[in-house]
Amino acid sequence: TSFALSKPFTESLITWFKPSYIVTHCNFFSLQHNAKVAVLGASGGIGQPLSLLLKNSPLVSELSLYDIAHTPGVAADLSHIETRATVTGYVGADQLGDALKGCEVVVIPAGVPRKPGMTRDDLFNTNATIVATLADACARHCPQAMICIISNPVNSTIPITSEVMKKHGVYNPNRVFGVTTLDIVRANTFVAELKGLDPARVNVPVVGGHAGKTIIPLISRCTPKVEFPADQLSALTGRIQEAGTEVVKAKAGAGSATLSMAYAGARFTFSLLDAMNGKEGVVECAFVRSEETECKYYSTPLLLGKNGIEKNLGLGKLSVFEEKLVAEAMDELKGSIKKGEDFVANMK
Ligand SMILES: NC(=O)c1ccc[n+]([C@@H]2O[C@H](COP(=O)([O-])OP(=O)(O)OC[C@H]3O[C@@H](n4cnc5c(N)ncnc54)[C@H](O)[C@@H]3O)[C@@H](O)[C@H]2O)c1
Repeated sequence: TSFALSKPFTESLITWFKPSYIVTHCNFFSLQHNAKVAVLGASGGIGQPLSLLLKNSPLVSELSLYDIAHTPGVAADLSHIETRATVTGYVGADQLGDALKGCEVVVIPAGVPRKPGMTRDDLFNTNATIVATLADACARHCPQAMICIISNPVNSTIPITSEVMKKHGVYNPNRVFGVTTLDIVRANTFVAELKGLDPARVNVPVVGGHAGKTIIPLISRCTPKVEFPADQLSALTGRIQEAGTEVVKAKAGAGSATLSMAYAGARFTFSLLDAMNGKEGVVECAFVRSEETECKYYSTPLLLGKNGIEKNLGLGKLSVFEEKLVAEAMDELKGSIKKGEDFVANMK
């Protein structure tokens, strides 16, 4: 029997089955790309599985793992995996500069996660300083790198990163991303569950920010097209907005989403690397500097290219329900952005 492999399936084969073998023996796939990627916060709940997924990708040739603890062990462990990416662990502030030298992409999941009853903004006091310190090091040691921030509250940590880069005169708004991919991943999964679809084939753009009601899924723009009665649409939207809290509650004090976040962080990083390698038509949503709404930073679908954001595809056409969600999120989003900017303005 013969059958045609679907594209996602062939891609997953390439990702999961001995990429080094495929790279060596199937030149027509042209997968041999070189990219040095750093993970800052690599020993954490997200950092470890994210580093594993990156180590497993033929798109990565060097993996630089930084944390304030445990990275030598994580790096030694990952370095035994039979893929070509070389892995180096760096531990403590003294080694941060070396970890970043020559990096094209830096992914940052460093910082504390939520416990039950906490909002993402409750993490601000701890994580603002951590992200500012790491952004400062990026500005000094790899100012051209793509910086992907996972650390919460994303609605404030992106303005913080941008302001720190500005202070060093190296800010490029096309290269600083707040990773909101997990919201898209969750929206795709929940829509697929309700409609009996294959989640790999569902795509729901999610715009706005990355906290509670600032997370705005555009179900009206889902592909394939789906319809829900008003009450179900409202419940689905609420579930996507509070999906992070669902995990925080289920983990009962042991942290927030780590495995699904590692998957989402890897998906975003691979999209970025694909686009940097010249693949055309790569689109991901991310929280970035934006002129698309009255908010200075906003997540919308972005066409990615060799230099980061190639084109902001904007909000596009919204339903009346979605327009209301966008309007209702503005004040909170503006407040979180200002809080991040003020933090850097007041830094010594
Ligand atoms: N963007 C999203 O969708 C999303 C989803 C889930 C979690 N998060 C956020 O990701 C962050 C990490 O979550 P986690 O579950 O991995 O937490 P974790 O506590 O398991 O891991 C965090 C890691 O950061 C390290 N760290 C702390 N300070 C550091 C510093 N100054 N430099 C380098 N590393 C440092 C810690 O040692 C630890 O290994 C949290 O802020 C969480 O809220 C974001």
